[in-house]
Amino acid sequence: MWLPGGTVARKSVKRKLPAKRRAAGKANTAARKTAARAAATRKNRKARTPKPPTPSKISSAAALIRGTASGALSALAERLPWGAREADPIRLLEADHRRFESLLKAGEGTTARAAKTRTKVLDTLTSELNLHELLEEQALYPALAPHAETREIVLEGYQEHHVADLIVGELYDLATSDEQWGPKFKVLKENIEHHIEEEERDMFKKARAVLTREELAALATTMRTLRADARKPKRART
Ligand SMILES: [Fe+2]
Ligand SMILES: [Fe+2]
Repeated sequence: MWLPGGTVARKSVKRKLPAKRRAAGKANTAARKTAARAAATRKNRKARTPKPPTPSKISSAAALIRGTASGALSALAERLPWGAREADPIRLLEADHRRFESLLKAGEGTTARAAKTRTKVLDTLTSELNLHELLEEQALYPALAPHAETREIVLEGYQEHHVADLIVGELYDLATSDEQWGPKFKVLKENIEHHIEEEERDMFKKARAVLTREELAALATTMRTLRADARKPKRART
């Protein structure tokens, strides 16, 4: 048949291939089938393998802190937010305390060679600690200070914040490779852990006794507002 372009349509003829090529074709088909079966087996095995249990948020956080990859600690900040519906200010502050304990543990386990990790841990701890102190000093402590049962522990709380801030400042004055960095961080850890214990064992329990449910709910709202304001990016001064 004549087709436009001057070509002749070839009759579709099924030609018989030489024996050698037929054998090669069979071998290729067999190889393709074997590969497909292997892929299917791999897929099935993968589907049958049970997934490891999802680690808790805290253990994930600790794993992140142990890692030296940059950005791991900033990811941590996003992974442990306050519960969106939590209306108890004491529980919100206690959630922060758990975070400090993880960070302090991570910093304590570092060596002079872990410059990046030490810097990240200290930076994260400092910014979280500053915010936590601000919430307590602008919301909880002023609410408790007028009560005779809590006045003394509140005054002590201000002083313990001050001491922690001083040690943090001194850590920034040291190179992370300095042999004093580790011991100083340990002292910071002990100070903060002692402060946390006093707040949770004494101050927070008394707070529940001296403050009404409405006052506690109002404190949680104030703390959320303060926290959101503090996290807003600051506008550059002109
Ligand atoms: Fe505190
Ligand atoms: Fe606290």
